[in-house]
Amino acid sequence: MNFELTEEQIAVRDAAREFAKAELLPGVIDRDTEAKFPAEQVKQMGELGFLGMMVDPKYNGGGMDTVSYVLAMEEISKIDASASVCMSVNNSLVCWGLEKYGTEEQKEKYLKPLATGEKIGAFCLSEPEAGSDATSQSTSAERSGDHYILNGTKNWITNGNTASIYLVIAQTDSSKGHKGISAFIVDRETEGFVVGRKEDKLGIRGSDTHSLMFSDAKVPAENRIGDEGFGFTFAMETLNGGRLGIAAQALGIASGAYELALAYSKERKAFGKPISQHQAIQFKLADMATEIEAARLLCIKAAWMKDQGMDYSQASAMAKLYASKVAMEVTVEAVQVHGGYGYVKEYHVERLMRDAKITQIYEGTSEIQKIVISRGLLR
Ligand code: CAA
Repeated sequence: MNFELTEEQIAVRDAAREFAKAELLPGVIDRDTEAKFPAEQVKQMGELGFLGMMVDPKYNGGGMDTVSYVLAMEEISKIDASASVCMSVNNSLVCWGLEKYGTEEQKEKYLKPLATGEKIGAFCLSEPEAGSDATSQSTSAERSGDHYILNGTKNWITNGNTASIYLVIAQTDSSKGHKGISAFIVDRETEGFVVGRKEDKLGIRGSDTHSLMFSDAKVPAENRIGDEGFGFTFAMETLNGGRLGIAAQALGIASGAYELALAYSKERKAFGKPISQHQAIQFKLADMATEIEAARLLCIKAAWMKDQGMDYSQASAMAKLYASKVAMEVTVEAVQVHGGYGYVKEYHVERLMRDAKITQIYEGTSEIQKIVISRGLLR
């Protein structure tokens, strides 16, 4: 077994680390305070190839492996989890789904600009009454000639106002349960489609989370992804990859907080010596480092399984379940190591602690990950 990263993987990780320090760190506190989307930085991420990392170069992507993607997600998330969730959704939920199941025409028209970041995508599954229970879709898509007419509301949509291409899951035949759900590509300019309220959130405040409304929105039938009734499977398969992206985000939030706590503990003196010389702090650092390493191994293993073409649904759910728990625990401890300074914005760890919580909620709560894992165990 070889745990060494390839030269290319190391180069991708280092490039993401440099970019995050140089471009995302300045202003990250202000963007959090003002709930401001990092538009300029996301544009740069597109230019550097971070928004379509795994897409085949023939569709303008980076042609990289999933391990490289996880490494880059960790580095970006250490500094700015609002930028990294935009990156994760565009790569895992939008580009992947389109590349895997889109037609050649759909890939030419939609995947190419998404892979370069010229356009940003959003994945629209959740509804006011359908979060964890994703089969209970009320958004409907009724066939009318060579179009579908969409009606309904989507909630908590990442990149909601920044996106211009939306993958929308809707009910085409309510009598068929999850087999009556279909997936569509919706253009921002579609008549009857409106971006609604922006959410005022606890964490990832720079991320652009909105509700979306469809009122007789006319979507060409050629924009359906796969057959009618394929939408739920499409969403579930796409979410397997999405969950890995969020696991890597949680890992990054945890390792970012740990690195800050480690550096601070060497500088801050109490009782005549740096606090890192006190065993109470050493034990915390040892626990944090061990948990982060375990989370990293789960993430890398799931990414490797995906790259081998193996069924990685259980592995990605395990990575997300564990890494998000570690993100919560480590960020709370990082605040504790900083004492009073940890509770103020200037030291970054309070933001990371607020950002960590969402990783236990979106793309399936921790309880949903346990359902996915146990389905694998009992199969
Ligand atoms: N991978 C592949 N297929 C899967 C799957 C997975 N992880 N989970 C379920 N499926 C398939 C099943 O195999 C089954 O297929 P068949 O009918 O062909 O056998 C089908 O889906 C239905 O499965 P279930 O009967 O188990 O369905 P269920 O109603 O019990 O629900 C669930 C299963 C796992 C709970 C699912 O509803 C779920 O994942 N819910 C959470 C949804 C979620 O993650 N939402 C997040 C929104 S996206 C987001 O947050 C993006 C963002 O903006 C950041």
